[in-house]
Amino acid sequence: MNTDFDDPAAGLRMALRRLAKAVVVITCVHDGRRYAMAATAVSEISMDPPTMLICINRTASIHEPLAAGADFCLNILHSGQADISANCSGKAKGDARFALGEWSDLGGRLILSGAQANIVCRNLKRIEAGSHTIFIGEVARTRQSGAVDPLLYVDGGYAVASSIRAAPSSAAASS
Ligand SMILES: Cc1cc2nc3c(=O)[nH]c(=O)nc-3n(C[C@H](O)[C@H](O)[C@H](O)COP(=O)(O)O)c2cc1C
Repeated sequence: MNTDFDDPAAGLRMALRRLAKAVVVITCVHDGRRYAMAATAVSEISMDPPTMLICINRTASIHEPLAAGADFCLNILHSGQADISANCSGKAKGDARFALGEWSDLGGRLILSGAQANIVCRNLKRIEAGSHTIFIGEVARTRQSGAVDPLLYVDGGYAVASSIRAAPSSAAASS
């Protein structure tokens, strides 16, 4: 069954339920305060120089420190870290977001130790876009840990990735 939407925002919301994204917790420190927010609107831009972008709602508490120029870290979550994502997307507020998980320092930036990867970015520039601000960061340092096993967000819930293994061909299966 096909469903068409006349309202582009409503249609986009429904379409995006079908776009599986890896969950990232963005962190920064500003004026001695720690900030963290779960996000999926995160993308690579270029490798030369290595740059990333994040889209942040202007109402989010991390927006103000980022707009003030705070550098940020992208922590790509592991499939076992859905509780940290929930904490960093509204369940906990302020510094209580750091009660779950082990947080440490990488080159002066706040990183989640058990994350699959950490990408430390220098806050380069910003672009206003509707309700959100796009922040562009130049990658300064990265770290990876463990196997590739991301936490995904799809159809309004958390999921894990599994690879598609080629089914054995009938010739191979009968030999
Ligand atoms: C899986 C997931 C992905 C999200 N992605 C984004 C995002 O890319 N940008 C954004 O501004 N908010 C995103 N949010 C919403 C924020 O995490 C949430 O509104 C957060 O509570 C805002 O921070 P605050 O409570 O500190 O104001 C996402 C939430 C979830 C659960």
